[in-house]
Amino acid sequence: MTPEKLVAKDSDIASFPLILDLLIEAINDPRSTIDQMVNIVMYDQDLCNRLIKIVNSPIYNFQEDIDTVEKALNVIGTEQLLSITLGSTVLSKFAGVPEDLITLKTFWHHGIACGLATKSIAKLKNQNNLDIYFVGGMIHDIGSLVIYKHTAEKAKLALIQCNEWGRSLIDAEQDVMGFNHAQVGKALLQKWRLPDWLCQAVAFHHNPHDTKVFEIETAIMHVGDFIAEGSFLGSSGQIQSQILDTKAWGKLNLPNRHLTTIYEDVYEGFEEMVEIFS
Ligand SMILES: [Fe+2]
Ligand SMILES: [Fe+2]
Repeated sequence: MTPEKLVAKDSDIASFPLILDLLIEAINDPRSTIDQMVNIVMYDQDLCNRLIKIVNSPIYNFQEDIDTVEKALNVIGTEQLLSITLGSTVLSKFAGVPEDLITLKTFWHHGIACGLATKSIAKLKNQNNLDIYFVGGMIHDIGSLVIYKHTAEKAKLALIQCNEWGRSLIDAEQDVMGFNHAQVGKALLQKWRLPDWLCQAVAFHHNPHDTKVFEIETAIMHVGDFIAEGSFLGSSGQIQSQILDTKAWGKLNLPNRHLTTIYEDVYEGFEEMVEIFS
């Protein structure tokens, strides 16, 4: 079995939601207008209802009722639009994941923390596509969900080796299954036709020193994951703490005091994002 074959085996997972595809394309195109975004969102009645409900919730605390998708899109940013769409379209694909390995709630909390950290670092590094960094951080461990769904017993064995024996998760997975969750994540993101830099950053988020391309993007994803683990918000199933690759941190050339800024961004944004998903 290879990561590509594992991903292709599940046609539900392998198909990327069209609406997310269209939204990412529109957000990346500076010529896009709000009307185009509204037209895309209108494809999905459930999503429209969810957006209207969220913008009228106490999170936003607006005085007047927001009753159209257009008004809703004007008040929420593209990052939140993407995360809401991702949550309502991707999460349901993993409904069958055994709960003794991970609950989707804690898994998604870890993803949200990583998305916020990754975006914060990308901003400090003046990167473009901050929304895609956020989404990328949210799904950086999605390969684990594919593994938990389809090879639960082997995944359990790898987690035991990691959490009880102190082995690195990707080494344990490699030995038990012949591949690791980061490679499966890359195979899935490639299938979903997400940008090459994001596929590479996900593929090497545990071992950024092993990539020779997209080194900055991969270092951002690695440090984002390290901070998400360190924030103790949610979990990807791994209890053994993540080790910071100091070379990757060095590559980002950021003063150490920025670590505090990144943690603050994570804690500040977390509750709101969790509310949106609940
Ligand atoms: Fe991971
Ligand atoms: Fe992670």
